[in-house]
Amino acid sequence: MIKQAKSYSKDGHIAFIIGKEFNTVKGISTAVEEQAKKFIASDEKTDYIKLGDQFIFFVKENEDLEKIRVVGHEIRKKLTKSAEEIFISGNGNNALALAEGLALSNYQFLKYFKDADKKRYQLKSITLLNSFEAQEISRLNNTTKAVFWSRNMVNEPLSYLTAPQLSKEIQSFDKVDNLKVTVFDKAKIEALKMGGLLAVNLGSIDPPTFTIVEYKPKNPKNKKPIVLVGKGVVYDTGGMSLKPTANSMDMMKSDMGGAACMAGTIYAAAMNKLDLHIIALIPATDNRPGGNAYVPGDVIKMYDGTTVEVLNTDAEGRMILADALAYSNELDPELVIDAATLTGAAVGAIGQKAACVMGNAKQETLDALIKSGFDVHERLAQMPFWDDYAEELKSSIADLKNLGGKYAGMITAGKFLEHFVKSPYVHLDIAGPAFLSSEENYKGKGGTGVGVRLLNNFLENY
Ligand code: BES
Ligand code: ZN
Ligand code: ZN
Repeated sequence: MIKQAKSYSKDGHIAFIIGKEFNTVKGISTAVEEQAKKFIASDEKTDYIKLGDQFIFFVKENEDLEKIRVVGHEIRKKLTKSAEEIFISGNGNNALALAEGLALSNYQFLKYFKDADKKRYQLKSITLLNSFEAQEISRLNNTTKAVFWSRNMVNEPLSYLTAPQLSKEIQSFDKVDNLKVTVFDKAKIEALKMGGLLAVNLGSIDPPTFTIVEYKPKNPKNKKPIVLVGKGVVYDTGGMSLKPTANSMDMMKSDMGGAACMAGTIYAAAMNKLDLHIIALIPATDNRPGGNAYVPGDVIKMYDGTTVEVLNTDAEGRMILADALAYSNELDPELVIDAATLTGAAVGAIGQKAACVMGNAKQETLDALIKSGFDVHERLAQMPFWDDYAEELKSSIADLKNLGGKYAGMITAGKFLEHFVKSPYVHLDIAGPAFLSSEENYKGKGGTGVGVRLLNNFLENY
């Protein structure tokens, strides 16, 4: 938890953010001041000394807040597991970024370890000594909480996180003011004729769910809602078009990263009491062969009546998203954004350092998202979205096919989705950054919760 205090408790661990001069705090020894002077004269970005068990860190001010967040992670790694509190002496965005890096780096997913308690970091307080607005700190804490929720969801295996369980987890948000969660069960989804979601679910024993989260404060700035849609494939085996065994399935529990992102985003927005009317839609199922699984060649009638020829059951994300996007039309949104671990092509094009963004919303909207991406360091790379790409989706037997050509798969997937949305639309393909197989600074290993900080920054500035 990030908090504020007026005074430093002597012997506590502390990080000083230092510009041209060293501003000491009461209770700090002269040895530290000596060291600080040396540090200012040096080229180092960060340094530390240890006085007994006490850590004193020095961090140079930096305009690039990402550098500071990463230092936050390095500090957390240096601290012993048993450290319970660290103080930060410093002003403005640098101190907040350092606190954020420390907080995000403090995440662990230990649920399945027998000796979890032994492994757990004890850091509970990140205490800012300078003054900040209460809202700056509470927003940082709330957003971090939502990121952790999102990471937990992505890290949970299918053996726990089925579609009904994902909906249940989202229902726990219900306690937050002005936030309401509704879950459609299989019978309701059948009654609504959400053909895409039902088709993907045919091979499964667990029923699909469709979860609606609405956040509506008293006087929202927007008359028409912003709708967020997240791909909730709780596991993607590929279905009958089974993924090849060698490693390609290992991380497919993360195929609900879009759902975790959008549910986490609205959770944070509600806790942060943003003045916006937002609705999140989460279609969820696993995708596997078995039972009456859908097969290549099938023609599926979607929620909006569009027929789709299935040519690869592994292109399942677009099948369930299409129904949710078509459902959004009934909410008359001013903007629709989806997030999905949608294509290997997105990873092939730009790797795991960024997500692909594309859409038909105003360039101003896309630019605002891209700017948020830089601000929080969840970067976005814009792809073209020309109509030519949609030509590959023509079918000889149905209105569309669910498979494009050999190239630019992330764009043809985006064009497929666009077909179902009537409002200005943005598509985020987060297949790359949603899940990391090796640790990357404060983002950690496994589920990153990517998109939650990005979209909250975007919504705060909306
Ligand atoms: N969930 C996958 C995409 C994915 C790949 C996410 C790698 C994360 C890492 C998606 O459902 C999928 O299988 N897409 C296919 C689409 C193809 C069959 C058109 C792909 O990208 O290969
Ligand atoms: Zn797939
Ligand atoms: Zn998938």
